[in-house]
Amino acid sequence: MADDNKFGSKLGLIAATAGSAVGLGNVWRFPAVAYDNGGGAFLLIYLVFVFILGIPVMLSEFALGRGGNTDSIGAYRKLTPNTKWYLNGILSVVTPYIILGFYLVVTGWMVKYFVLSLSGDLYAVPDGVQPSEWFSECMGESIQDTWTPLFYTWTVIFINLFVLLNGIKKGIEKVSNILMPMLFLILVLFCGIALTLPGANEGVRYFLEPDFSAVTSKTLISAAGQAFFSLSLGMGILVTYSAYYPKDTRLSRTALITSSFDFFVALMMGLIIFPTVTAFGLQDSNLAGPALVFTTLPEVFMQMHLTRFWSTLFFLLLSVAAITSTISLAEVTVSVLQHRLRLRRRKAVWVAMLPLLALATIFSLSNGVWSNITIFGYNFFDAADKFTSNVMLPICAFLGCIYVGWKLPKTFLENQLTNFGTFRSYIYPVVLLLIRYVAPILILIIMLSPLFI
Ligand code: PHE
Repeated sequence: MADDNKFGSKLGLIAATAGSAVGLGNVWRFPAVAYDNGGGAFLLIYLVFVFILGIPVMLSEFALGRGGNTDSIGAYRKLTPNTKWYLNGILSVVTPYIILGFYLVVTGWMVKYFVLSLSGDLYAVPDGVQPSEWFSECMGESIQDTWTPLFYTWTVIFINLFVLLNGIKKGIEKVSNILMPMLFLILVLFCGIALTLPGANEGVRYFLEPDFSAVTSKTLISAAGQAFFSLSLGMGILVTYSAYYPKDTRLSRTALITSSFDFFVALMMGLIIFPTVTAFGLQDSNLAGPALVFTTLPEVFMQMHLTRFWSTLFFLLLSVAAITSTISLAEVTVSVLQHRLRLRRRKAVWVAMLPLLALATIFSLSNGVWSNITIFGYNFFDAADKFTSNVMLPICAFLGCIYVGWKLPKTFLENQLTNFGTFRSYIYPVVLLLIRYVAPILILIIMLSPLFI
């Protein structure tokens, strides 16, 4: 791959990779899963899984990407020609494309709430209506309506198009370099405010004091699943991005920094949500995903001074987190089209993005006018979410571990972790052990868990 197709700086490549990892998984999934699973105990277990599952799988994907130095299907073709392993490459492209289809819709909701906060319309509660009712109504409308969600979803598609058309360095890297520090600053600010709220202690205690009596096998499985989703593992994303890493990038350091950052963001998000919710006495409200951010938090903002300002800043944070993840999801297909079909980058970007106008539309409408069309009892949106996260992702990650751990020669991983012997890697033997045995077994358990829980 030519050098103009590489990231230009260490910080830039970390910002881009972290931009993919930090997304709605950290922001609205993590606090809800932690809340359901005993707070502090979950946090600790999650941290352990980041180390024994997240980082090794991440490293195997980095090695595959940089070693293959092409797209996520091409890597398999190049490293093991005349085998069927490239089929896993195909899975690793189809999965993020479907995820992108519905992630764009969710990102659109975030952007809409950013606009509604900025304009103040979100807080124009009509006389005689309870704020909680008003926020629920607004949420329903934002999700189930026909045209408004479509308008915002398409807007997000065009934002992606714009960034991707500008290429790796001037598009993805530049945008990540601006957005990630911004995200971090906003988070720190919110954390500071949340922790100084009167009554915040109770929430902090819940989140940080482990209660191991709440830990069940479900907690372990949820923690492993969360580590997976949050680090964007199990699809071609990290394989694609690491093909853009220069030869001298230290993969283990990059994996450690990215996962720590991702963990830190989740931690800060918990330190924002739990104290806020207890301080405002809302612990009995709905803390899961959409309801948390679209109904519970606006109630909090309403009780604060500068309601619109805080609300706008918060939804900006969510939009930024989500947009950088959509960019990484889309880049997988762009890279495949460029290398497999030999399309020029600009053309590949258009070919990758235009069908999403239709795909994302189907997902958006399936929450509204098409909600009666179901597959196994789920509308398209939920069916796609469940099928990709519970079936496609684990299969792809499992095969990826087997491939790097068993199929490729051992020296492959070692060469990538030591940059072909330019320095020693003390963690290589441990990583190899984790990729060969621990990660595949854990992934199998996660995948089969619905059958026995
Ligand atoms: N890692 C992202 C998050 O935490 C989600 C994501 C999943 C992004 C899969 C890309 C691919 O929200």
